[in-house]
Amino acid sequence: METPTYRPGLEGVIASTTNVSYLDVDIEQILVRGYDLIELARELKYTDVAYLVIYGKLPNPTQSEEFSKKLTSKADIPEELYRMFELMPKNTSVMDALRTGVSFLSGYESPNRLDNNSYDINLERGINLLAKVPTIAVSAYRALNDLSFVKPNPNIGYSENFLYMITGTSPDAESTDAFDKIHTCYIEHEMPNSTFAARVIASTLSDMYGAVAGAVASLKGPLHGGANEAAIKMVLEILTAGGPDEAEAYTMNKLERKERIMGFGHRVYMNKYDPRALFLRDYIPRLAGNIANGTQISDIYNKVEFVMNREKGLYPNTDYPIGILYYMLGIPIPLYTPIFLCSRMAGLAAHILEQHEDNRLFRPRVIYNGPRGLTV
Ligand code: ACO
Repeated sequence: METPTYRPGLEGVIASTTNVSYLDVDIEQILVRGYDLIELARELKYTDVAYLVIYGKLPNPTQSEEFSKKLTSKADIPEELYRMFELMPKNTSVMDALRTGVSFLSGYESPNRLDNNSYDINLERGINLLAKVPTIAVSAYRALNDLSFVKPNPNIGYSENFLYMITGTSPDAESTDAFDKIHTCYIEHEMPNSTFAARVIASTLSDMYGAVAGAVASLKGPLHGGANEAAIKMVLEILTAGGPDEAEAYTMNKLERKERIMGFGHRVYMNKYDPRALFLRDYIPRLAGNIANGTQISDIYNKVEFVMNREKGLYPNTDYPIGILYYMLGIPIPLYTPIFLCSRMAGLAAHILEQHEDNRLFRPRVIYNGPRGLTV
């Protein structure tokens, strides 16, 4: 029998074929449905890129408008879900509330329909989830912090409404534009842990709600989506410790203690700049004026980046600039990772659709290192 190869963390292992996206590391491009993600972020609004990710082609102007309207018209959530968020223990993290909220929605489908993973029904489900996850995340945050709900406004666009629900006020055009571009940068990224988790769950022919709930749990981890929260917390710690002049000593101390600097490194492009981070870092000086200590935070960002590159040859991943940008947009930190999930919902829907269309159950093997032959 051929000796099986073990790759810890499945590094470099091909888990699936896909038409959704690919990290072409050689040319430093994130390919999404044939397009360069950064060009999509630069040129288009998030909902158009979400349409592309889900349907596989760009919308024409009518489809673009209809899709945007569909998302805003479906954004509100059932009254029971608002009530449930009020009943949750106040210690619940927003990611856990979001995971629960996604599961909760499955109860609005009859058991027969829920078992139906046909393309059309999954498509409708995916679009419904894409529309609702921002309202779930923000309403959970609001209830957990004893703030009154801000229900979605169906008369404004996706990103404007999302920021409006978070802050309770109408955002300016520059903030809405930056927020929209961040959504696009997070929209889809080949086979990260959360997408893999969703596909593994979907491969049992379980429904999309379960697959997305699994992806939320995966994304919560600090080695994955949780890094955007960890990155801003680190930058704020440096700010409190003395500001930009402290950044080098702080980073060196952490590295000496063999601690990770969150927002740096990536399994696929470990020693190259994540193209999304490269694109988004230009927004930091643009938004720095939004907050009192924006310039200092921007300087800390640059210094930590310099030290990490010099000491470890590592570059920022997208969570590093995004953690800082969300802060400059006035977004509460517990919402950072939930917002990442909302942006990624389009990619998750596309992958679950693809998995159900050409399914084979994921069921790998192990190398057994335990004892044998024991008797009771
Ligand atoms: N800080 C310090 N050292 C690091 C970091 C980091 N952020 N990332 C990697 N390294 C070092 C490791 O210490 C290790 O060094 P060694 O060989 O001297 O021991 C080497 O780089 C390889 O690291 P691994 O953990 O083996 O690489 P892996 O591919 O498993 O990890 C990961 C990738 C988890 C992203 C890692 O870079 C990390 O922990 N980064 C910080 C968390 C983070 O930013 N996550 C977000 C990822 S992107 C996303 O989810 C959107």
